[in-house]
Amino acid sequence: MSAEEAVIHRGLDGVVVDTTRISKVMPEINSLVYHGYPVQELVELCSFEEVAWLIWHGELPDARQHAEFQAVERSQRGISDDLLAVIRKIPRTAHPMDALRTGVSFLGTEDLEMDKIDAEANLKRSVAMLAKIPAMVAAFYRLRKGQEFIPPRQDIGFSENFFHMIFGKVPAPEVIKAFDVSMVLYAEHGFNASTFTTRVIVSSLSDIYSGVVGGIGSLKGPLHGGANEAVMHLLLEVGDPTHAKEWMLTTLREKRVVMGFGHRVYKNGDSRVPTMTKYMHQMADFTGNKKWLEISDILAATMIEQKNIHPNLDFPSGPAYYMMGFDIDMFTPFFVMSRITGWTAHIMEQQANNRLIRPLSQYNGIGERRVVPLKQRG
Ligand code: COA
Repeated sequence: MSAEEAVIHRGLDGVVVDTTRISKVMPEINSLVYHGYPVQELVELCSFEEVAWLIWHGELPDARQHAEFQAVERSQRGISDDLLAVIRKIPRTAHPMDALRTGVSFLGTEDLEMDKIDAEANLKRSVAMLAKIPAMVAAFYRLRKGQEFIPPRQDIGFSENFFHMIFGKVPAPEVIKAFDVSMVLYAEHGFNASTFTTRVIVSSLSDIYSGVVGGIGSLKGPLHGGANEAVMHLLLEVGDPTHAKEWMLTTLREKRVVMGFGHRVYKNGDSRVPTMTKYMHQMADFTGNKKWLEISDILAATMIEQKNIHPNLDFPSGPAYYMMGFDIDMFTPFFVMSRITGWTAHIMEQQANNRLIRPLSQYNGIGERRVVPLKQRG
């Protein structure tokens, strides 16, 4: 069949492009599993580090594997002086996602074995990126405020170390748990836009860093990862629970998109939302500030009543991060700190059974015509 006769699937809506063993999104039963394990169970019983191992290896680590992995990840948390110098040079006005995109790109230039693209080399790079991305995020967070970079610690977990590098201290276990839960929930989600971007990039046999840099670029957009920041701006705009219903009705009347609602795959609710909402509630209890919770509840109820469109994961995660004390424009980089696991697993899966990704398009431009030389064009 020629491209001219083919059915066009704009946005690749409903198109199955390849197989994957990494995760399964089941909108019909509102479930998401990583290598068969429901995310709700993983959140309650495993740390983010265990889930990272699962995503890459297909099994949860045993005690020895866990200890080895922990030692390797912790030992690689530092970043080079050159990379720190690059981050220092990035304008303070830049968005942290742009700073992170530059940081990962520079990290790639420090790799002396770029020509090796086998699975073993790529797994090592994936662990290194998991370990180093939090330091890049934290470095830019502090440097742009005129504060010094706080080097990582090796004696504490992934999430604890991140808070240490940002605030210089480790908060209460409730806060760490809520952050760790968000890391588990953001880790992997099938062929979403940024993951598919990484697969497209490496399908040309390009390198893993190029794939991740492309993933960061895709994730930044407000229709994808950028929505967790947009949600918090929206909650601040509403400002008070008494304005929430009217705000939503007006926004829908004006046919504006409400960030944090809707999903290409889940049409009856995002399976990750109840879990993250539970931890968002715990953050509200912990901080003693219920305002964002109350506004969120009214907005969600009004949206469902008016349009039957449900919140997605960004809806509870945005205010949860805000209540932890972070700047809003750091929320999407947090998504990267987690999704680096899913992206790199997909990159390795793509390269293990590669076929160049190269779709067709249907031409609807001007019909063929003759070139008129410049001097005759007037
Ligand atoms: N606010 C208002 N209306 C929405 C909406 C939202 N967040 N999400 C979907 N809709 C409406 C659309 O306007 C459309 O209405 P119509 O049929 O009257 O034109 C209908 O629901 C179908 O939406 P559509 O845009 O075709 O869905 P999609 O699968 O292409 O889009 C998103 C999915 C995620 C891009 C979309 O829901 C969105 O923009 N959400 C806000 C951004 C966001 O939270 N992104 C994070 C996703 S995890």
